[in-house]
Amino acid sequence: MDFLIQNGVVVNAEGSARTDVLVQNGRIAAMGEGLACVNAVRINAEGCFLLPGFIDTHTHFDLDTGSARTADDFVTGGRAAVLGGTTAVLDFATQERGGTLVQAFDTWQEKARGCSCNYGFHMAIAEWNDKTAAELPEMTRRGVTSYKLYMVYDALRVDDGAIYAALKAAKNEGALIGVHCENWDVLNRRIQEVKARGLTGPAGHPLSRPAPVEAEAVARLMRIAELAGSPVYVVHLSTAEGLAEARRARARGQEVYLETCPQYLLLTDACYAAEDGVKFVMSPPLRKDSDCEALWEALAAGEIDCIGTDHCSFTMAQKLQYGNDFQRIPNGGAGVQHRGQLLYTYGVCKGRITPEQMVQLLSAGPARLFGLTDRGTIAPGMAADLVVWDPAYEGRISDTNTAHNADNSPFAGLSVRGCARDVLLNGERIVENGVLVLPGRGKYVARKGYGKCR
Ligand code: URP
Ligand code: ZN
Repeated sequence: MDFLIQNGVVVNAEGSARTDVLVQNGRIAAMGEGLACVNAVRINAEGCFLLPGFIDTHTHFDLDTGSARTADDFVTGGRAAVLGGTTAVLDFATQERGGTLVQAFDTWQEKARGCSCNYGFHMAIAEWNDKTAAELPEMTRRGVTSYKLYMVYDALRVDDGAIYAALKAAKNEGALIGVHCENWDVLNRRIQEVKARGLTGPAGHPLSRPAPVEAEAVARLMRIAELAGSPVYVVHLSTAEGLAEARRARARGQEVYLETCPQYLLLTDACYAAEDGVKFVMSPPLRKDSDCEALWEALAAGEIDCIGTDHCSFTMAQKLQYGNDFQRIPNGGAGVQHRGQLLYTYGVCKGRITPEQMVQLLSAGPARLFGLTDRGTIAPGMAADLVVWDPAYEGRISDTNTAHNADNSPFAGLSVRGCARDVLLNGERIVENGVLVLPGRGKYVARKGYGKCR
């Protein structure tokens, strides 16, 4: 089916213009004033923005963290994603210790069947050795051009030498490595200290992992990347102090990319005192107002490259299954549905960023950095992943009015403006007036090498 989207304002990272868009055979066929096509279904986007589909650089669907399996799999997570305007997610396909990257890739391909948004994978490497290194070319052939290393979690963390070697190997392969930066040894000591003070509930969580726990790890990663001579990506940056370390590395001439998440822009550690404080136990933890402000300023200045969600959702029953002990509460929260609304409401509507910057952060930046070369921009020849964004919508997020499977949202109570009224995925209209009419149409997107952006 062909579509002619009329009367909308097309927003790209480079600029905006009122123009019609013709979609044929899954791609953008033409753009211009007064386009005509007799066979095309017309979509009237009067009063709306037409945005490139959002790309979420950080999701954990169908993940068994060891303490619980996430409430969302690719079916429920993908549904929530597209209803919020996210047309592609990059999920973490996680290697098991003793297993291979190929096995993890195949497992994640199976998991992703029935997903409503497009999907690709970052491979999370739990074990770096010669065998893993030898798998990188096969990963490239399969369209994987990014990896993740953890400095935390006993089942996943790799040592600094492994990070150094993996960074070098990835660079040779044209791939980018993202790293979860926290100092595991120190934070574990602090967990014991905090608990010894009698603070065992959620309020103990941020005290065990304060800003220097992240900043030390970012600084160390920056120096390791400097020694390796490789680009590097910091996932879910949450602190002003971590940002300062990344700035220092950039000032030395290093190629450093940064991702943050809506929760680190909008929520603070005051949330842990709430009755439902378990909801906010995620790592890194929520921070101070001053950290949120520093991250907003960095966004406005173009210093942050992507906004992912770190969607890693659990039901309240799962959150509480081991009691109120912050050390044992499954880490993570929901977010995949609301990223666009939150950035639009608290970024664009508040005048902190422009609509073009929003598109850069949600669509164009992730597409370029992670090698989705025919997405992230509205232009002839590009894949038709498109969002008709209605700026007139006003609503409020609650724990229950969401499309994801978890029965809670860290953003419950926040007012939002704007919504994804219609969504086209690979040229098909899958969301119509806010309703998912064609579920399960997501495809695997094989990616090219990472695109240098700095
Ligand atoms: O708490 C979180 N973020 N859980 C998901 C895994 C991770 O650390 O990214
Ligand atoms: Zn994560």
